[in-house]
Amino acid sequence: MASTAIAAAGQQLQVLDSSNPAVARVRQLIGGGGTQYYSSDGWIRCWEEGVTPWDLGQPTPAVVDLVNSGTLPGDAATVLVPGCGAGYDVVALSGAGRFVVGLDICETAIQKARQRAAADGSSSFAFVAADFFTWEPPELFDLIFDYTFFCALHPSMRAAWGRRMAQLLKPDGELITLMYLAQGQEAGPPFNTAVSDYEEVLRPLGFVITCIQDNQVAVQPRKGMEKIARWKREDAGMADK
Ligand SMILES: C[S@@+](CC[C@H](N)C(=O)[O-])C[C@H]1O[C@@H](n2cnc3c(N)ncnc32)[C@H](O)[C@@H]1O
Repeated sequence: MASTAIAAAGQQLQVLDSSNPAVARVRQLIGGGGTQYYSSDGWIRCWEEGVTPWDLGQPTPAVVDLVNSGTLPGDAATVLVPGCGAGYDVVALSGAGRFVVGLDICETAIQKARQRAAADGSSSFAFVAADFFTWEPPELFDLIFDYTFFCALHPSMRAAWGRRMAQLLKPDGELITLMYLAQGQEAGPPFNTAVSDYEEVLRPLGFVITCIQDNQVAVQPRKGMEKIARWKREDAGMADK
């Protein structure tokens, strides 16, 4: 039986596998048409139906820890959160000298994120409805944070995910991946994911892990299934010269 916990928003938070009817519905909507994996249609239907079982209804605890750790860039740093969904992590990462862009392919998600975040009254974040794979930002980012975006993409899109990360980050920028390591899934999203899947696409682009650890503050249904890794390009020093 799926383990559960109560999310801050009050809904029952369940494990993200096929024992969860909402995940089964997401898979129908996103994978049902085969080629839908590569279009926004399925994600838009999920948001319009309100089938968003990944949504914690609060900032991810590991993000709050990262902010409190004092190890994130500040001093006019720019941050990107691709596949930001309802945008809780965007708001949590913002401030202390950071301007954060939350990007999601689904206009409905972005509208929800904007409405919810408006109460924050801050001008240190913005939400953009666009496709991560084609969006052209006005400037590159100091930091990109990915949570449940890599594992949500069809595995055939992972190499393109890596290339986009390399294109969107400043040469000395940092990528932080909070990795949801789904296993034993016959379908997705979330698709089966291992740390080696990230390495396979990031290592050839020069990214190396500078720090990796278990996510000790994962929400209950995800405990023991997540690791957090910080990546930099090993030639970053050369890029400045
Ligand atoms: C599994 S959800 C994760 C949302 C959020 N990171 C969270 O943890 O609550 C994946 C999100 O990625 C978005 N998405 C999917 N494909 C995308 C793309 N090509 N560009 C931008 N966003 C995309 C979906 O609309 C969805 O909101």
